[in-house]
Amino acid sequence: QRKMILDLDTGIDDALALAYAVADPRVDLIGIVSSYGNNTLEVTTQNALDLLHLLGQDDVPVFKGLPHSSTTDHFDVMQVSKDIHGDNGVGDVTLPHAPRVAETTSGVDFIIEAAHQYAEDLIIVPTGPLTNLAAAIEKDPAIAKLIGDVTLMGGALTVRGNVTSVTEANIHQDAEAADFVFKNQANLTMVGLDVTLRTLLSKKETKQWRELGQKGEIYADIFDFYIDAYDRLGIDHRGAALHDPLAVGIAIEPTYATFLDLNMEVTVDQASGDYGRTIGDNTKLLDGTSSRAAINVDVARYTRDFMDLT
Ligand code: BDR
Ligand code: CA
Repeated sequence: QRKMILDLDTGIDDALALAYAVADPRVDLIGIVSSYGNNTLEVTTQNALDLLHLLGQDDVPVFKGLPHSSTTDHFDVMQVSKDIHGDNGVGDVTLPHAPRVAETTSGVDFIIEAAHQYAEDLIIVPTGPLTNLAAAIEKDPAIAKLIGDVTLMGGALTVRGNVTSVTEANIHQDAEAADFVFKNQANLTMVGLDVTLRTLLSKKETKQWRELGQKGEIYADIFDFYIDAYDRLGIDHRGAALHDPLAVGIAIEPTYATFLDLNMEVTVDQASGDYGRTIGDNTKLLDGTSSRAAINVDVARYTRDFMDLT
């Protein structure tokens, strides 16, 4: 079992990443760090608590991350996030309320403590902006080499972005933090739109969850909202993307994907037109590889395993 921290901006696909990590016997989920992103930090933290309650996991601690990027003093939820994830982040479905609140330790300090405690046994899977991880590395630079793996959902190298033509949403929320993480974190795997837009789920699959009782009904209602949004907004009429659960899957089972080893530094552009673009820097070639990007995925095997587990 690998120790895993999920850093979530819950979020419909984040909600599925959580269910997947909870269900996978190879994962020891040691804690959740919440992030602003698909909604405000208050809302995403509560969603994580409530979903864990629904999943019968009230003993998994939830730590609050940072409420906005370090380059701003506030955060506004993007309209596109509301369109895709609903006003409450989980498809406007009302969740049973968790009987507890988040821990008092900050998410940033939890990441630092866990890195020292578990070192190479620790996998961190950020599925929102990289603000929390960047802040943790900035506060304690030693952790960048201690953490076993960071497998993040974010970016786009070989396909268009989903915020602008070159920018993916998680990176776009905080390009400065993403750039810092790409430059400093060892053993980094990028699971971007290159692969996540290939793993789609349709109502044929969510219908199967409805046979699993209350938990399945709620998850099906949440995901159907997301499928309808993809259809309505013309993103994809075949189904909706398993962005965040694919990052969890690849973190545990890298053979789902094929990778491009980036033997150069990845940089995240910050100029206004390109803000948030993930791209290699050919002036900074590295010996060996520090990061890699998933560029293809075994869709059939991944989605079958995903359905078997959830
Ligand atoms: C990413 O952005 C968020 O809206 C999703 O939860 C996912 O993490 C996709 O670009
Ligand atoms: Ca997310």
